[in-house]
Amino acid sequence: MGLRISPSILSADFGHLVDECERVAPNADWLHVDIMDNHFVPNLTFGLPVVEALIGKVSTPIDCHLMISDADRWAPGYAEAGAKSVTFHVEAASNPKQLAADIRKAGARAGMAIKPGTKLEDYEDLFSHLDMILIMTVEPGFGGQSFMSDQLAKVTRARELIKNLDLDIWLQVDGGISAKTIEAAAEAGADTFVAGSAVYNTEDPRAAIDNLRTLAKQATSNSWWGKH
Ligand code: DX5
Ligand code: ZN
Repeated sequence: MGLRISPSILSADFGHLVDECERVAPNADWLHVDIMDNHFVPNLTFGLPVVEALIGKVSTPIDCHLMISDADRWAPGYAEAGAKSVTFHVEAASNPKQLAADIRKAGARAGMAIKPGTKLEDYEDLFSHLDMILIMTVEPGFGGQSFMSDQLAKVTRARELIKNLDLDIWLQVDGGISAKTIEAAAEAGADTFVAGSAVYNTEDPRAAIDNLRTLAKQATSNSWWGKH
């Protein structure tokens, strides 16, 4: 059973972005890059030129989480730039099926994120067009928020669907993931974990990643969905 840890550079020192990526790279499966546009979410981070610069300098694959309006227009460009995974918010996409196809055509895995208040049921027919579902476990926009455990039922519902349809999709959680919460997320069905403050706001970010991976692995092997 594969699982992935994707440190979010939102909690890194923006003055030394490449160094901060390299600081976690040997232990990270992916690097999670949060694109915020001060429109879809109240915060503003970076855009395509910064992502392009990172892709040229960092060998760990980039997992772009686009918290931007008009995703249909902007998301494929991140795939064209070389991001290996591009996730758009379904609330910001007018034709999610077409957008997922465009992202894949541009060479990336296509992910679809849903906010805590968005119902999964309304989008279940999209699963077979995607490579990853991202269930937000905080309101998107800021790092360091508390994990919303009421989203775990949604994670489990998504895992059930993936199992029932026999799909090869990753199930990501993002927001408030730490050594205290990762086991619950893994037990519920997540296999891909974003962690910002729990990695970067520690003395030893690489050890923090390894610890998260160990906890998630154990929880998965004891879970209803990961047991063999
Ligand atoms: C929040 C972002 C997250 C953020 C998570 O909108 O999507 O990726 O970096 O930060 P933590 O892990 O600190 O909750
Ligand atoms: Zn994110």
